[in-house]
Amino acid sequence: MRGPLFLLFFISLSIPFTLVSTLSSDGHSLLSLSKNLTIPTPILSTWTASEPDPCNWTGVECGSRHNYVVTLNLSGTGVSGTLGPDIRWLRFLHTLDLSTNNISGSLPPELGNCPRLSYLDLSSNSLSGKIPESLFLIPVLDSVILNNNLFSSPIPSSVESSVGSDPTGDREVQFIDGIVAEGESPRWGHPG
Ligand SMILES: *[C@@H]1O[C@H](CO)[C@@H](O)[C@H](O)[C@H]1NC(C)=O
Ligand SMILES: *[C@@H]1O[C@H](CO)[C@@H](O)[C@H](O)[C@H]1NC(C)=O
Ligand SMILES: *[C@@H]1O[C@H](CO)[C@@H](O)[C@H](O)[C@H]1NC(C)=O
Ligand SMILES: *[C@@H]1O[C@H](CO)[C@@H](O)[C@H](O)[C@H]1NC(C)=O
Repeated sequence: MRGPLFLLFFISLSIPFTLVSTLSSDGHSLLSLSKNLTIPTPILSTWTASEPDPCNWTGVECGSRHNYVVTLNLSGTGVSGTLGPDIRWLRFLHTLDLSTNNISGSLPPELGNCPRLSYLDLSSNSLSGKIPESLFLIPVLDSVILNNNLFSSPIPSSVESSVGSDPTGDREVQFIDGIVAEGESPRWGHPG
């Protein structure tokens, strides 16, 4: 009795997982992001859960040797809404370009959990709140473009001293402005 019963148990367990979706975890993460990020229908309609991975989705690029997302570029496509914390699950993301949209809310500190993020352009949106310090702990992050937003606080001073002094010379925070501290110049960093 034991054998067949166990077999039945495992078959009933595995059916929902195999039939519902075979989409990769990066695909699920993007779909999860799209719940908070309002992506125009022509783009979102290409984000289909029935595919094995998101590599053919509009705005998405995968690595050449794997099917993980390396680029998310929805620049100037009319995206609004907020950027959710699920961005952290895109472990191979190196380029995030969501510039020239109408994204509001604050930046999730979880962006700092994307270990390969090297290029971040969120300029010309309606982002507000503080720029998370965690962002600047990503060792490979070398381009941060955040100008033309509504950020309320300047770059944390700890970041300014570690990045601004640039002891190794291999990191450049290209351009950050629109960050208005009380009575301060709304600029920090060197224009790229
Ligand atoms: C992506 O599109 C190409 C051509 O349109 C197709 O050959 C390929 O199977 C698609 N890949 C996926 C994962 O859907
Ligand atoms: C994102 O896409 C836009 C429009 O296609 C392009 O101009 C821009 O260079 C891309 N961004 C990056 C970082 O490649
Ligand atoms: C994402 O949307 C959910 C449901 O609408 C909401 O509860 C949550 O606060 C949103 N997250 C962000 C980061 O905006
Ligand atoms: C941007 O979004 C805000 C709401 O978050 C809205 O009030 C505003 O009209 C939008 N601007 C554009 C240009 O769509």
